[in-house]
Amino acid sequence: MQDIIEQLERKRAAARLGGGTKRIAAQHAKGKLTARERLELLLDEGTFEEWDMFVEHRCADFGMADNKVPGDGVVTGYGMINGRLVFVFSQDFTVFGGALSEAHAEKICKVMDQAMKVGAPVIGLNDSGGARIQEGVASLGGYADVFQRNVLASGVVPQISLIMGPCAGGAVYSPAMTDFIFMVRDSSYMFVTGPEVVKTVTHEEVTAEQLGGAGTHTARSGVADLAFDNDVEALLMLRRFFNYLPLNNRDGVPVRPSGDPADRVDASLDTLVPDNPNRPYDIKELILKVVDDGDFFELQPDYARNIVIGLARFEGRTVGIVANNPLVLAGCLDIRSSIKAARFVRFCDAFNIPVVTFVDVPGFMPGTSQEYGGIIKHGAKLLYAYAECTVPKVTVITRKAYGGAYDVMASKHLRGDVNFAWPNAEIAVMGAKGAVEIIFREDKGDPVKLAAREAEYKARFANPFVAGARGFIDDVIQPHETRKRICRSLAMLKDKKLENPWRKHGNIPL
Ligand code: HXC
Repeated sequence: MQDIIEQLERKRAAARLGGGTKRIAAQHAKGKLTARERLELLLDEGTFEEWDMFVEHRCADFGMADNKVPGDGVVTGYGMINGRLVFVFSQDFTVFGGALSEAHAEKICKVMDQAMKVGAPVIGLNDSGGARIQEGVASLGGYADVFQRNVLASGVVPQISLIMGPCAGGAVYSPAMTDFIFMVRDSSYMFVTGPEVVKTVTHEEVTAEQLGGAGTHTARSGVADLAFDNDVEALLMLRRFFNYLPLNNRDGVPVRPSGDPADRVDASLDTLVPDNPNRPYDIKELILKVVDDGDFFELQPDYARNIVIGLARFEGRTVGIVANNPLVLAGCLDIRSSIKAARFVRFCDAFNIPVVTFVDVPGFMPGTSQEYGGIIKHGAKLLYAYAECTVPKVTVITRKAYGGAYDVMASKHLRGDVNFAWPNAEIAVMGAKGAVEIIFREDKGDPVKLAAREAEYKARFANPFVAGARGFIDDVIQPHETRKRICRSLAMLKDKKLENPWRKHGNIPL
């Protein structure tokens, strides 16, 4: 018995040491924490239950039979974040560069399977050189086993990837199928093929950072949702983010008591929108002023900035916020913003998070680059997402709601539950100027007549009452009472039930 206990302790110590002190020092020298240090920061103190500390790889080629580290390069198990259950895996770069072996993959699959059974999110901390080269196809099979679980878990439990080192080759596809990807600046990168292969195939010279660093993926490709300066900041922000999330698709949103009164009015909102309809303003100001305690967790802030997405709370309950931002490209919908918002709306819908939409949209972005890029199909993604969404939907039109974009942005016609407009809202096919240029083409050479026509069109359509007369909006509200009206609407909708017709799955225009 004593022997076994000593052996156990030896194995535990070996697992804790990972690739050894030298490699741990190298990890620290790069400004990176070790796999275990990361879990210590991510999870509530003393809550981590580790599994599979004694798992070893089964590879005998290339001298690997004598080269085994208990745990095999990934630390797995479960723990708590602010008292709520979460399953985790944390790849250990000090052990074979965190490379994924068959056994390493089995450990990840085990926590994913258990997370699905008990209904708890999965957080993966990625720091890996990819497929364990010595194992060959066994490692590829391991990846595919993880991918399969990512897909089955999608929409069942939230999945979050934090990229904290290399993530290259096919390995990128596991994070790509999770709900959110966060990265660490200067120490993480993701790409399907690295700079060397790129150089050989396309003759482009590019660094790893340029090709797949945090800046690239948060601002250019849209692959990642957020970037943080270092491991500590990333892990602490991940804890904050976790607080917004339901544990699974049946759990409902978490409630965090707030002292912010539901009927709080904000007089400054009455002057937020400039009188001149072509003058921009920052929609984030509105978001911050209406949500609980001004606390808004924005996602993808540097990508497709013409639409703002993120999580916030009303009366303590999580909501998803989607808002056109007139500050960027006049808030129009284009390919990137449609994709960005569509995926977010679908996330909210999958996890029963109500969606609050703020609309100020002049329409879809015109131009050859948009048309050739497939705005028809990509714009349809957002339309599809809002239309299939069955969670409570509250919409506030703050100014423009023109054309097809009016329909798309959680309109009444797409089963918006409560649709408000501010008094200066303009709900119309297009702006007055564009409209008269088309319907009064014969007056083109007569600016005086055109101006009169424009004024006439404006008086007729540039207001919320035409839509109001048809019941397309439920009420015209004063900007200062926006929070109160949203809170009341969400409270009324708390037990909303709506189901789409049975089908295997829809066919969203991918
Ligand atoms: C086995 C690996 C490894 C791998 C790194 N190591 N990657 N061992 N399989 N894939 C080991 C190294 O041998 C080294 O061991 C230790 O990890 C640290 O690696 P270094 O190269 O010293 O570190 P660094 O300079 O920081 O470079 C990190 C790296 C580089 C950029 C990740 O190691 C690298 O390019 N690795 C190969 C990446 C790769 O080609 N992977 C396969 C991709 S294909 P010692 O003992 O010296 O500490 C793929 C397909 C997935 O992943 C398909 C899924 C469908």
